[in-house]
Amino acid sequence: MKRFLRLALLVCLTASLPAAAQDAKMKAFVDALMKKMTLTEKIGQLNLPGAGDITTGQAGNSDIAKKIADGQVGGLFNIKSVAKIKEVQRLAVEKSRLKIPLIFGMDVIHGYETVFPIPLGLSCSWDMDLVEKSARIAATEASADGINWTFSPMVDIARDARWGRIAEGNGEDPYLGSQIARAMVKGYQGDDLKKNNTIMACVKHYAMYGAAEAGRDYNTTDMSHQRMYNDYLPPYKAAADAGAGSFMASFNEVDGVPATANKWLMTDVLRKQWGFKGFVVTDYTGINEMVAHGIGDLKEVTARALNAGIDMDMVGEGMLTTLQQSLKEGKVTMAQIDKSCRLILEAKYKLGLFEDPYRYCDENRAKTDVFTAGNRAVARSVAAQSFVLLKNQGNVLPLKKTGTIALVGPLADTKENMPGTWSVAADFSKPISVLQGLKDAVGDKAKIVYAKGSNLDYDAAFEERAGMFGKAFGRDNRPAAEIIQEAVNIANQSDVIVAALGESAEMSGESSSRSNIEIPQAQKDLLAALLKTGKPVVLVLFAGRPMAIKAENENVPAILNVWFGGSEAGSAIADVLFGDVNPSGKLTTTFPQNVGQVPMYYAHKNTGRPLGTWFEKFRSNYLDVSNDPVYPFGYGLSYTSFSYSDVKLSSTNLKGQQTLKASVTVTNTGNRDGKEVVQLYIRDVVGSVTRPVKELKGFQKIDLKAGESKTVTFDITPNDLKFYNYDLKYDWEAGEFQIMIGANSRDVKTASVNWSK
Ligand code: BGC
Repeated sequence: MKRFLRLALLVCLTASLPAAAQDAKMKAFVDALMKKMTLTEKIGQLNLPGAGDITTGQAGNSDIAKKIADGQVGGLFNIKSVAKIKEVQRLAVEKSRLKIPLIFGMDVIHGYETVFPIPLGLSCSWDMDLVEKSARIAATEASADGINWTFSPMVDIARDARWGRIAEGNGEDPYLGSQIARAMVKGYQGDDLKKNNTIMACVKHYAMYGAAEAGRDYNTTDMSHQRMYNDYLPPYKAAADAGAGSFMASFNEVDGVPATANKWLMTDVLRKQWGFKGFVVTDYTGINEMVAHGIGDLKEVTARALNAGIDMDMVGEGMLTTLQQSLKEGKVTMAQIDKSCRLILEAKYKLGLFEDPYRYCDENRAKTDVFTAGNRAVARSVAAQSFVLLKNQGNVLPLKKTGTIALVGPLADTKENMPGTWSVAADFSKPISVLQGLKDAVGDKAKIVYAKGSNLDYDAAFEERAGMFGKAFGRDNRPAAEIIQEAVNIANQSDVIVAALGESAEMSGESSSRSNIEIPQAQKDLLAALLKTGKPVVLVLFAGRPMAIKAENENVPAILNVWFGGSEAGSAIADVLFGDVNPSGKLTTTFPQNVGQVPMYYAHKNTGRPLGTWFEKFRSNYLDVSNDPVYPFGYGLSYTSFSYSDVKLSSTNLKGQQTLKASVTVTNTGNRDGKEVVQLYIRDVVGSVTRPVKELKGFQKIDLKAGESKTVTFDITPNDLKFYNYDLKYDWEAGEFQIMIGANSRDVKTASVNWSK
């Protein structure tokens, strides 16, 4: 036995040797470098200034150039092109005393030049291989263009449709959000950060940013630790466990202290509990904003940030300008500055920048690897899989490629809006609009006639705010009735109407919260006029959030939610409208009936007065609206139909670490092949603390040919029953569990088990 143990130990040691040896090598390198560094140079590494306007050929004369030469800059972000990045890197490695290379970041959020669907859309594919692939392609393109660090994945759980940044995340669910966080980190970082086509991930916005009160961006968040640990923190933890190289602090406060100065969050949870070994950067001027938060002047808040565990200061230069003084005054220690400087140097080391500062600056790759036909083909297929068919009464869809199709709406002929929010690297002349996509798809087989039909909104000032960053619509100043009439005229001469309506790209994203989450009135009036023609209407809904479309659900026969599909959006929309691709996306956020119901999410608590059917006095409900959503979490239709058998369990009485097998047989009952996302939910019926009415615990996306049946089995272990209890201990409790399997969070088949310890 002893011999066996000794052998096992030896194997263990040998197996871990390469990683340990690499760490030791890195440590020795950084130790030696840091010995040569002055205090100013060390603090310089913590500084991530805004790049300003760096023009190729003039970088050397910019303000930033002097700072780089003086060793006062650790990295730069959102500079686009190898030529510019190379020029700036040259300043660092030729002009600065210690020749420490810069790290180059960018908001590569959902693709680089080849843009994939906005993250909320991508999450609706429920396909982790696709998610990883999209991040892999984004990394390949960005790294070919000089970038080695992305401010992604954004993994903030969001349950409030008013919050504009709900578009940038993966929806409301911590289980699905954690899977996606992992896939994104893997896609960006690959298996070796040193490779020239992998980039470092930066997990954001840590933490709880998605719970801003009233859905207003940057607003206060306040919640119990139990909710944090069970619902909001899991995706950040999953990303840390997956080896993400860096984290970004969020703007909001947590427990009354801004995240940027929150030691509990940055050190106790992130580093001590989760074992995170990378560096933490602030969000844009996150340190300076703590003055407005009201916790001190710049010197004070900067010291608090460093003490909390922040390593890099984005844009605000509080560290650059105040840390030396704070050190003199004993507000911070040299050990803390050293620790942060070391983590940033280590990140550069891991990226291979000390071996070759131009590793990511290969002009040839920039020419061959970006916006390639292959990448665009993937983006097209990913986009089609992100769309969610919400309604298809009388099988209006798919459309035939014959006759005349009227394409109407302010979103129909705008390339610029197709990529959606946060598409920093996109060339807006390149995306495929719906009009172009439909025309390309039908060729000369059918006629596509187009009219805008309405402005984005009646309010010109609102429309201007919703069309920022080169995404303006070009306002039609004629009377609304005249613009609508033009659309009605072409509709009357057509066989079917496709109405491309909803939000513009900039109606979601940062600082784009809305208190009204419906389709703007100008477009609603257009839709009403189109419905009046009596022609079949297909609503192609553009959205960066779950929208309140109760009336549309009642009145429009077919609705396809397309989010913002990226560079190839128009082609992908045509693929689905004409049935070349059968839609399979499922919602990852609940669609409420009206804004008054939000925050709304499927995994809610039962309360002491749960509602049976609406309305009952002294029950948890509203006087004016039921508790139902319009579309529940997990919902989405297909051009075929699926039936589910009852749930079959391998046992109804389990003990300890046994595995429960829960299965259903799913049958494609229609006459088209299709994909279905089979979802597993569990309810812990009695707990030491109250538990949600159901929680997603597994899913499988399967292909089913017309008429085909497949049995889908989920292996459930006590691990799947664990939660953070009152003492924040992660464990499971014996008792009854309901095992639910179905096509969405509402339509499930249920069976019960008893699980003892
Ligand atoms: C956003 C971040 C982004 C950063 C850098 C901030 O305003 O909150 O998500 O990464 O800017 O562009």
